[in-house]
Amino acid sequence: RIGSVLSGGGSAPTPNNPASWADMYDGFQERALSGPLGIPIIYGIDAVHGHNNVVGATIFPHNIGLGATRDAELVRDIGRAVAEEVSGTGIDWDFAPCLCVARNDRWGRTYESFGEQPEIATAMTTLITGLQGDSLSEPGSVLATAKHYIGDGGTTGGDDQGNTELDEAQLRAVHLPPFEEAVRRGVGSVMISYSSWNGVKMHGQQHLITDVLKNELGFTGIVVSDWAGVDQIDGERGFTADEVRTAINAGIDMVMVPMDYVRFTELLTAEVTAGRVTMDRVDDANRRILTKKFELGLFENPLTDRSFTGTIGSAEHRDLARAAVRESQVLLKNEGNVLPLAKSSNRIFVAGKNADDIGNQSGGWTISWQGESGDTTPGTTILQGIRDVADPSTTVTYSADGSGIDDSYQVAVAVIGETPYAEGVGDRPSGMGLDQADVATLQTLRDSGVPVVVVLVSGRPLDISAQLSTWDGLVAAWLPGTEGAGVADVLFGDHNPTGTLPMTWM
Ligand code: BGC
Ligand code: BGC
Repeated sequence: RIGSVLSGGGSAPTPNNPASWADMYDGFQERALSGPLGIPIIYGIDAVHGHNNVVGATIFPHNIGLGATRDAELVRDIGRAVAEEVSGTGIDWDFAPCLCVARNDRWGRTYESFGEQPEIATAMTTLITGLQGDSLSEPGSVLATAKHYIGDGGTTGGDDQGNTELDEAQLRAVHLPPFEEAVRRGVGSVMISYSSWNGVKMHGQQHLITDVLKNELGFTGIVVSDWAGVDQIDGERGFTADEVRTAINAGIDMVMVPMDYVRFTELLTAEVTAGRVTMDRVDDANRRILTKKFELGLFENPLTDRSFTGTIGSAEHRDLARAAVRESQVLLKNEGNVLPLAKSSNRIFVAGKNADDIGNQSGGWTISWQGESGDTTPGTTILQGIRDVADPSTTVTYSADGSGIDDSYQVAVAVIGETPYAEGVGDRPSGMGLDQADVATLQTLRDSGVPVVVVLVSGRPLDISAQLSTWDGLVAAWLPGTEGAGVADVLFGDHNPTGTLPMTWM
């Protein structure tokens, strides 16, 4: 009688390919339909920059890069492409978009934010329209999730799952607008934030969930808790009857219980029997969930629509991702017009740990929860993109640490920055400078006397003040995903850089 199943970050069938995802989904669905109620499950996943748990899917730039494009129509098209890829594995529900307004880039989830101003995330709610289509029942539509309600990006010190200390007027001014717009666009679900508002966990905030989101904004969809989020209400490990009651009465309709659903069901049943959770509240939650299952057409078409399976990682979607990468590049320095690079008869030396690494350029939430360096999924690295876009008359030499460069080269391109992380693992309270490997690579390039262009692959602005004066060019590439040729399109001037910073650079 489970109503919903999710794949967490990196939770995948073996082998990890589109067909086995679809088979897994259909297997769960067939079991649900043969159960006593015959009600289909709704299956959820974090497709936060493409269908990113699936090997071979198109990986789009993380939200911070999409924010840099300021192109809401492009973002809607990306939503549509992601919905098709997700549909191709049967999955009905996407835990995206993150509408967090990141106010402190020490936060490890800054790259999941479209930007520091509420207006940017509000504009980018077009992603919801792309995911859900004109109607949820049309083939290739999935249910979207506005997350994490509310104030996740506003915690003191940028502490992940921390405390957002603002009065209600400030909270509403900065963090509510994207959710208002999401509700206006008919978003099907809203996920509650792990963070606290003025010391009280959001998972227990009846005022903000029921009074504001449901009654004031008129949200009629599903309020879902975050992964074991209910366990955190009292600050102790594990969940208790008190926490379950508090969460349900606050207005949470579906509870994400990753570990112990049997105990959860027992506790909630006991609370209802004791009259501490009303049947009205339970009926309301069920009505909200069932309505979305009906609207998605799950009762009529419960199994995977395999006509979408071939769209996963398709050339068309990869072209769209490349266009997004191109539009997301932000040119920050161009001394002596070192850019654009000449395509023909040039000698280019490429270096840096992020030049030839799909995992690094994709960041967290890619194949695994934290993401990982290396060849984790098919794609075009930034180095390969440079080689592809350059004319055959140009020499492109590569070494990760810069060794081998000499003054016969006309330009050095250093692709440096961060390596993958997700959530609190990426919090950087004690400094946001470059690592030692990058500093050493830059020194080697500098010593050759060749002009240096830095391509910074990172989930946020980094503290580069100590090095910047020695660079001729600087491009912020964010976390572009699998289509690295989009970076090359800008380096060679096939596309004039149009990206704009979505976050203040410290
Ligand atoms: C994250 C959510 C995500 C959920 C399910 C949580 O840790 O905060 O953004 O949707 O896990 O993977
Ligand atoms: C899961 C993620 C989840 C995280 C929460 C991980 O094990 O794979 O989806 O967000 O736990 O801490």
